[in-house]
Amino acid sequence: MKICVVGTGYVGLVAGTCFAETGNDVICVDVDEKKIAGLQKGKLPIHEPGLRELVRRNVQEERLRFTTDLPWAVQNSLIVSIAVGTPQGDDGSSDLTYVMEAVRSIAKTMDDYKIVVTKSTVPVGTADKITQEISALTTCEFDVVANPEFLKAGGAVEDFMKPDRIVIGATNTRVAAIMKDLYAPFTRTGAPILVMDPRSAEMTKYAANAMLACRISFMNEIANLCDRTGADVNRVRHAIAADQRIGAAFLFPGLGYGGSCFPKDVRALIHVARENNYPSKLIQAVDEVNELQKHVMINKILTFYSSEPGNELEQTKSAQATSHQQLHLLSLSEIKKQYGNQGPVKGKTFAIWGLAFKPQTDDMREAPSRVVIEQLLALGAKIQAYDPEAMKEARKIFGNKIHYAKNNYEALKGADALILVTEWNAFRHPDFKKMKELLKDPVIFDGRNQYSRREMRKLGFDYFGVGRP
Ligand SMILES: NC(=O)c1ccc[n+]([C@@H]2O[C@H](COP(=O)([O-])OP(=O)(O)OC[C@H]3O[C@@H](n4cnc5c(N)ncnc54)[C@H](O)[C@@H]3O)[C@@H](O)[C@H]2O)c1
Repeated sequence: MKICVVGTGYVGLVAGTCFAETGNDVICVDVDEKKIAGLQKGKLPIHEPGLRELVRRNVQEERLRFTTDLPWAVQNSLIVSIAVGTPQGDDGSSDLTYVMEAVRSIAKTMDDYKIVVTKSTVPVGTADKITQEISALTTCEFDVVANPEFLKAGGAVEDFMKPDRIVIGATNTRVAAIMKDLYAPFTRTGAPILVMDPRSAEMTKYAANAMLACRISFMNEIANLCDRTGADVNRVRHAIAADQRIGAAFLFPGLGYGGSCFPKDVRALIHVARENNYPSKLIQAVDEVNELQKHVMINKILTFYSSEPGNELEQTKSAQATSHQQLHLLSLSEIKKQYGNQGPVKGKTFAIWGLAFKPQTDDMREAPSRVVIEQLLALGAKIQAYDPEAMKEARKIFGNKIHYAKNNYEALKGADALILVTEWNAFRHPDFKKMKELLKDPVIFDGRNQYSRREMRKLGFDYFGVGRP
């Protein structure tokens, strides 16, 4: 099939490449000339495991091309799939500016029948809006299909090649059949292709993301309760996950979810509810719990350093007692109000392990690391950070405000404590002896509960996890 993918970001590049990998002729279009020039030279704008090899092979075999020439790409395709960004608008809604710009460009240049597909995450009713917009701009025949994407950053190629399900929102059965044909190579292991009306397809994507975000916020709330009651969230998690009705996925407590999807999609759903005069109490709470969770670590850090200096045992005991009983989740402005410019972390240096919003990606959009670093900088601390893939992205965000370490051990040199923010595999079994030697004080704030609390304390570290007293 001849396919054009408009928008060559995380979704568009992966989708376009995977469609090419299954034998289709694919043209990936983007307005970003630098990105396209790079791709034409084999330079990938993002890190995704397995993607580089697939792009190289399909370009070499002439099934995958990159261009900024949208009219040419549209005119040489039957299916035009839109994968541009849908960022959060000022009021929390999904900003459709890029989608509608792409739609208008497609409508103005199409010279024949086209199937226009939305792969971007768009609110319910967008397919109808697109239909109206295209009808106003062309006399060519067309169909609009809602085809939400469920891949996750860091495992995007694997997810696209072996999806749990494909959702196709189409009113025309002939078009649904073409879309089913397109996806058939990806569903040979039996994953269902679910054909439905466009509105249900659009809602499915938001419902899926809100459900996953809900599990994370739920577990974070349980972890915060564990902190206050002396229970261990790890034990609780294992025990509830063994229940087949619950399962283990997305039940890891931490510093809150981030990334380019969950935060904005949850808020877009809240906005849709508001627009429809429905008070979405549960989804609203998911977002609120998540925002608070990003402040958990700074609160633990401040509690620790607020205690009497010079007596490590007392400090540890006091921090434990505080985190058990009365840890308040203070926002940055409250923290600043409370501590002013003379907070207990002023002049201290923190090593940060992990900057990406999750492992296996360089994506730092809404990453909890950003909140932790901004809070520490605002309180006068210094940062020595390391991430296996996100250093380039971090430089764009923090410039010269932080030190970028060459590896995870260098980040520890002379630091007062380590804060583990993203659970990269490379951080799972580090050399603790070396860490102790490099750190000024053996203190670990583990935002992802990666290490054994007992082991850490046996090795002489002051160790603080999330929900593990
Ligand atoms: N990133 C994910 O993991 C993920 C997963 C599922 C769904 N989604 C959804 O997919 C959509 C795209 O997300 P992304 O992360 O790939 O975005 P992205 O920001 O990485 O990429 C979007 C690309 O679209 C390009 N673009 C913007 N306007 C254009 C236009 N008029 N013509 C051509 N190109 C244009 C931009 O230059 C950019 O390269 C969003 O709606 C997102 O919510 C993302």
